[in-house]
Amino acid sequence: MRIYREKDYDAMSRRAASIIAAQVVSKPDCVLGLATGSSPVGAYQQLVKWYERGDLSFKEVRSVNLDEYCGLAPGHDQSYRYFMQANLFDHVDIRPENTNVPDGLAADPRVECARYEELVAGLGYADLQLLGIGRNGHIGFNEPCGEFPKATHVVDLTQSTIEANARFFASAGDVPRQALTMGIGTIMRARKILIVASGADKADAVAKAFFGPITPEMPASILQLHPDVTLVADESALSHVVEAEKR
Ligand code: GLP
Repeated sequence: MRIYREKDYDAMSRRAASIIAAQVVSKPDCVLGLATGSSPVGAYQQLVKWYERGDLSFKEVRSVNLDEYCGLAPGHDQSYRYFMQANLFDHVDIRPENTNVPDGLAADPRVECARYEELVAGLGYADLQLLGIGRNGHIGFNEPCGEFPKATHVVDLTQSTIEANARFFASAGDVPRQALTMGIGTIMRARKILIVASGADKADAVAKAFFGPITPEMPASILQLHPDVTLVADESALSHVVEAEKR
């Protein structure tokens, strides 16, 4: 695993954006696995700047997002489809038909999961999968549990995730209780993984995920088994890693 230790959120975002841009430049029709949350927002802003300057094009890029809340329409301002439009897709030249996010309104979420898994498999899985990390070590919406879920599935969100994500909703009661998410198996099939982490509230998860035991109770720990992982994090998110590395 390669670790980039950056001084703050902005530096982390520029570094992550340069890794994504390198992927797009070297393979213009690549499949980008994309993520939501506050961690990747700065990287998306940097990519938009490079696009506006004419330095980068997403014309041939295909994208697959990790996850979506159950029950939120694409136009709901907290849906992940809305997030992607607002933070990236509406500002670059990616073709709308080449962007994929699970459908949170599907009549049968399990059928939608099977469709989405097949779609990602049909694209040959991601060339580069961007990930954030939850405070409890979740990736996508793969919450701590007894085993690593393989394929795209419906998940009951944990109380800690509902509370962490409540900041985006009017109240914790408005946060959907379920989500559709790529499985750990789907994520692990990506050829490269880029994980971004910022802030002291991620320090514990980052240290445990990358320097602790590999266990489904810390879903991101599976990434220790992936052959091409890059962690880009700021000083505060890496503050517990210094001690972990000494052990
Ligand atoms: C959500 C998303 C994850 C994301 C996590 C952390 O639960 N499903 O993909 O990594 O939150 O979000 P943030 O970057 O806002 O801390």
